[in-house]
Amino acid sequence: MKIAIIGSGYVGLVTGACFSELGNKVICADNDARKINGLKKGLVPIYEPGLEELIVRNARNKRLFFTASIKEAVKSSEIIFIAVGTPPLENGEADLTGIENVAHSIAVNMKGYRLIVEKSTVPVETGDWVKHTITHYIKDKTKFDVASNPEFLREGSAIDDFMHPDRIVIGVESKKARDLLTELYRPFKVPLVITNIKSAELIKHASNAFLATKISFINAVSQICDKVGADVEEVARGMGLDKRIGPSFLKAGIGYGGSCFPKDLDAFVHISEKTGYDFKLLKSVAKVNIEQLSSVLKKIKDSLWIIKGKTIAILGLAFKPNTDDIRNAPALRLVRMLQEEGARIKLYDPQAINKARKVLDKVIFCADAYSTCRSADCLFIATEWDEFKELDFVKIKKLLRRPLIVDGRNLYDPEVLRKLGFSYISIGRKKV
Ligand code: UDX
Repeated sequence: MKIAIIGSGYVGLVTGACFSELGNKVICADNDARKINGLKKGLVPIYEPGLEELIVRNARNKRLFFTASIKEAVKSSEIIFIAVGTPPLENGEADLTGIENVAHSIAVNMKGYRLIVEKSTVPVETGDWVKHTITHYIKDKTKFDVASNPEFLREGSAIDDFMHPDRIVIGVESKKARDLLTELYRPFKVPLVITNIKSAELIKHASNAFLATKISFINAVSQICDKVGADVEEVARGMGLDKRIGPSFLKAGIGYGGSCFPKDLDAFVHISEKTGYDFKLLKSVAKVNIEQLSSVLKKIKDSLWIIKGKTIAILGLAFKPNTDDIRNAPALRLVRMLQEEGARIKLYDPQAINKARKVLDKVIFCADAYSTCRSADCLFIATEWDEFKELDFVKIKKLLRRPLIVDGRNLYDPEVLRKLGFSYISIGRKKV
């Protein structure tokens, strides 16, 4: 099938690359001409395992194209996915300017029937606005449909998530739209959830909000575990084996971050308010997330007494492993909180250092975990990268000024570290 993807960011590029891999002819558009020129040369602007290879291969096989002209993309494709960003406004509401601009451009450039599909995470009723906008600007009586097809991919495993989803959600309001999207997704042997557009839009926000709720729930439980001496890992395991609960997204830590959960939660609270419903539950989920990090800072303070003048070695900055994304990363917030207290920060992340340099001041960036630890008063684990699971702690003990580890991701066995002579503090587990 001939597909256009408008917006070559995270979701757009992964979607475009994967649809082309499945044999479709895909054109990815973006108004950032520099990005498009880079992509034409095989330069992928984000770090995502396997993406570059997929893009280069499909571009070489003439199934994947890039353009800075929406007109060109709209001209040649029957199905047009909108995958532009919906960044938050000051008040948490999603800024839909990008979506409106794209809808306008599609309207003035389409020459025959087009199916316009929302891929970006958008508030419920955006589909109606896209429809209104296109109807308003369209030149003649050209027919079109709007559909919603939310994406559930996670950074770091985006290609696998796209190729092996749990379900595919399709919100449609005509038989033609339904048939086109069913045909497009025919290679996937997973349940197709076919709904109206509004339900599909809501499925996306409700799913992300529910996952964030699970994380805040277990983080809240970790606070109780800390107080009473229970072990949150055991509690989560015991809960997760109940099939009604499930084990995923029950990992306690320093809170969720990234480009989706914080933003989507705020947007969902805002959407609810607009409908007249005060979604208090989700407001608490966001509050617990913020407080989780403050309680981690308190743990560091409780161990070091005075933070001012101390050196903290931080391993990990990305909001989670296997990505260089530091948007809303809890570690970034922690660095700033520690700096406000007067700490000196040494930092290492396997992928995120280049991005960190652009936003962090007065931080010593290190080349590996060991040089980060040299002469530090405390080692803090902020992201659970695999390479941090295999560290040589005998060596680390010699490098640190004092043998203190605060583990924000519960990566290590407390007993092993205690035996090595460390003071080890983690999340919702016994302090040793
Ligand atoms: C998320 C959704 O999972 C995905 O479906 C949606 O399309 C986009 O948003 P992503 O932001 O890439 O994906 O990351 P995800 O793996 O969901 O993790 C989000 C945050 O939650 C990370 O900061 C992670 O560290 C944290 N997290 C996750 C926990 O703290 N505990 C958990 O048990 C799971």
